[in-house]
Amino acid sequence: MCGNNMSAPLPTIVPAAQKVSAVVIFLHGLGDTGHGWAEAFAGIKSSHIKYICPHAPVMPVTLNMKTTMPSWFDIIGLSPDSQENENVIKEAAENIKVLIDQEVKNGILSNRIIFRGFSQGGGPINGVNKDISILQCHGDCDPLVPLMFGSLTVEKLKTLVNPVNVTFKTYEGMMHSSCKQEMMDVKQFIDKLLPPVD
Ligand SMILES: *[C@@H]1O[C@H](CO)[C@@H](O)[C@H](O)[C@H]1NC(C)=O
Repeated sequence: MCGNNMSAPLPTIVPAAQKVSAVVIFLHGLGDTGHGWAEAFAGIKSSHIKYICPHAPVMPVTLNMKTTMPSWFDIIGLSPDSQENENVIKEAAENIKVLIDQEVKNGILSNRIIFRGFSQGGGPINGVNKDISILQCHGDCDPLVPLMFGSLTVEKLKTLVNPVNVTFKTYEGMMHSSCKQEMMDVKQFIDKLLPPVD
């Protein structure tokens, strides 16, 4: 988020109560900011983990009639065959990588960093590390990103990383949002992968 054309403010951070030994970086969805997610992580935080919720730069979004809003990259359409501007997605991924590199420079081991996001925030990623665990969550009443796209993504992810490390959870009646049960599942996932070190 530093340099070039990024107009986004600094990420909202939920600091660790003790010495930081692990980091979670979480990207919000289209038109949102990191604030709500920071609050959500504050609700499930563990004392040795720092949670970083960056804010997307503001840009015109083709899908929304070029309306200007926080967005990680331009979205042309939502169907699986929609044109995607790969360079723009790559650029977003590069900006996120800067954040990860900063934490590594701060002394956090790269295997102690979890990175992901909600909806569009789940998009920017450059080259998947094969030795990772993935938790993907989806509301089964999501009217914006149909559950089927989630299933397709999970099948794709299982070809990229060890399938036993890919977990797909669906939430009955949930729309394009998150819920308490989901946040508890997220907490369990994070705390299992990033236990305290002494
Ligand atoms: C993947 O799953 C296996 C079996 O549960 C586990 O031993 C391994 O640590 C997992 N890998 C990662 C990166 O979480």
